[in-house]
Amino acid sequence: MCGIVGYAGARPALGIVLDGLRRLEYRGYDSAGVAVVCDGELLTEKKAGKLANLEKVLSERAAEDPSGCGASPIGIGDGTTGIGHTRWATHGGPTDRNAHPHLSPDGRVAVIHNGIIENFAKLRAELEDDGVQFASDTDTECAAHLLAKALAELRAAGQPDSPQLLAAAMRVVCQRLEGAFTLLAVDSAVPGAVVGARRNSPLVVGRGDGENYLASDVAAFIEHTRDAVELGQDQIVLITADAIQITDFAGQPASGKDFHIDWDSSAAEKGGYDWFMLKEIEEQPQAVADTLLGRLTESGEILLDEVRLSDQDLRDVDKIFIVACGTAYHSGLVAKYAIEHWTRIPCEVELASEFRYRDPVLDRSTLIVVISQSGETMDTLMALRHAKEQKARVLAICNTNGSTIPRESDAVLYTHGGPEIAVASTKAFLTQLVACYLIGLHLAQVRGIKFADEVAAVVEQLHQVPDKLRELLGRIEPVRELARELKSEPTVLFIGRHVGYPVALEGALKLKELAYMHAEGFAAGELKHGPIALIDQGTPVICVVPSPVGRGLLHDKVVSNIQEVRARGARTIVIAEEGDESVARYADHLIYVPRTPTLLAPLVTTVPLQVFAAEIAAARGHDVDQPRNLAKSVTVE
Ligand code: F6R
Repeated sequence: MCGIVGYAGARPALGIVLDGLRRLEYRGYDSAGVAVVCDGELLTEKKAGKLANLEKVLSERAAEDPSGCGASPIGIGDGTTGIGHTRWATHGGPTDRNAHPHLSPDGRVAVIHNGIIENFAKLRAELEDDGVQFASDTDTECAAHLLAKALAELRAAGQPDSPQLLAAAMRVVCQRLEGAFTLLAVDSAVPGAVVGARRNSPLVVGRGDGENYLASDVAAFIEHTRDAVELGQDQIVLITADAIQITDFAGQPASGKDFHIDWDSSAAEKGGYDWFMLKEIEEQPQAVADTLLGRLTESGEILLDEVRLSDQDLRDVDKIFIVACGTAYHSGLVAKYAIEHWTRIPCEVELASEFRYRDPVLDRSTLIVVISQSGETMDTLMALRHAKEQKARVLAICNTNGSTIPRESDAVLYTHGGPEIAVASTKAFLTQLVACYLIGLHLAQVRGIKFADEVAAVVEQLHQVPDKLRELLGRIEPVRELARELKSEPTVLFIGRHVGYPVALEGALKLKELAYMHAEGFAAGELKHGPIALIDQGTPVICVVPSPVGRGLLHDKVVSNIQEVRARGARTIVIAEEGDESVARYADHLIYVPRTPTLLAPLVTTVPLQVFAAEIAAARGHDVDQPRNLAKSVTVE
């Protein structure tokens, strides 16, 4: 949700900033803009729409005026200090005028922002009373005017132009702002410095050699450095070519947390695929293997990454809430079946955006498992904070090292799935499932319900999943063909029972967000209570069938539900376990997946649904990686 990049060094900033924005575009693509300080001037460009629009304008500008900045002999491409922004619109439509950066009236100061300034209406009224004229409808512009005002006041009080002045002015601004914000700013009178501020939105520092970076996500600077610093809450950071200085909002020296990024820039490239999503689907075998890597000790215990919870804490747990959004929520719905089955602890799954508003009953013996790929989702973060206020213990499942959610949790299990760039989640879902299974096993073991050999047996089954996924992906072409055949259908329905129900929900979500089609997932047994009326002649219904092994009753019930929809004219697309011949006669299309124990089956049954959604979206001519109206990291509530 808005991507921001800053650079201070000796190389031309524009290219570095634009490359960073390209890697952050998944965070929002309503508009993009840059500001570069060169030769004491502030040069900016911004454009509604995707980054490509901005790049086109910049190249036209370079062709018309090679210097790029009027009278100056130096062009926008030559400045060595710069900031850039890619926007997911909140306040003000996705237009050129609302694109960032926003400037001070004298055009010397540029500000970019991720988040929402909640008291912006009050601030705007106050500034307008002082005679300030606004050039946009955004909340961000208040910050630009406040920063210009603070700089003027500090200068009037005798402070000389210096990077420290910029940081001091930013501190003054932050005292006035409420809400969530990451702000970056440059001032043409203070060349060589970028100042950043962080409250409730992500900001990481990249530590280079004679150059430093700021960004919403390490992907923006991974090409240049893998040494990063995670900023804490309510901190100001000032970067120049040679220094990184961090203070709190009161100006007291503060420190961030250094970390090394354990993946390289190739992980954030398409690598020959048309879409990141296709690459990420193909990466799933490795991502699952990486989530499992080194989790089981020789004595048969499961390792979490950072644990500030004792075994006694876990033994005291009498109730679990899994809290997440979207696809991560669906992984929680699957986890409930496994965790309750293995641990016998009651487990509820809640949408993070609803959780705190219904005043849930929480206490010291409640374990909250928050699941978030980005680690920055505001709904999930607010649910986490609410849970902590109620003294509940929080365990996070997260893919993003150094993000806010794991930092504020009592324990973390990182999924180590590598960067997920496509907006629609794929490998994050599978790795979240694996992480949930590991947590369920860990809890069962700590509480003495499962012995080391039983845990090891399930972990061994999990270790077989990557090969099964490779095999499945190797023969996925018929799913693509089917998707192309169904691309013009008005509706696709998905049904499943038990863990197949969340898989149905996830399949429908993928199709909605990527193909913009009407798609709904149902618990197969619920159909007859209403939704079956949706079925018309030829309506495609994707049926997720459980394994016939061990849970025969469940299998047979789903087969009955398939017959019910077929009797009403549905075209059935059946996803069943290899060797299950009983379903063949009810299937207009049959997709076999490798045999997998029922509780773990979503790890394989979800994959054809991901491929199906991506292929339909491509066949309908949509941008598979950046569906309309969405952003990857949703940092507003
Ligand atoms: C759907 C999707 C979203 C995310 C949701 C939570 O494909 O990606 O539904 O799952 O926004 O995001 P995280 O996991 O980053 O908290």
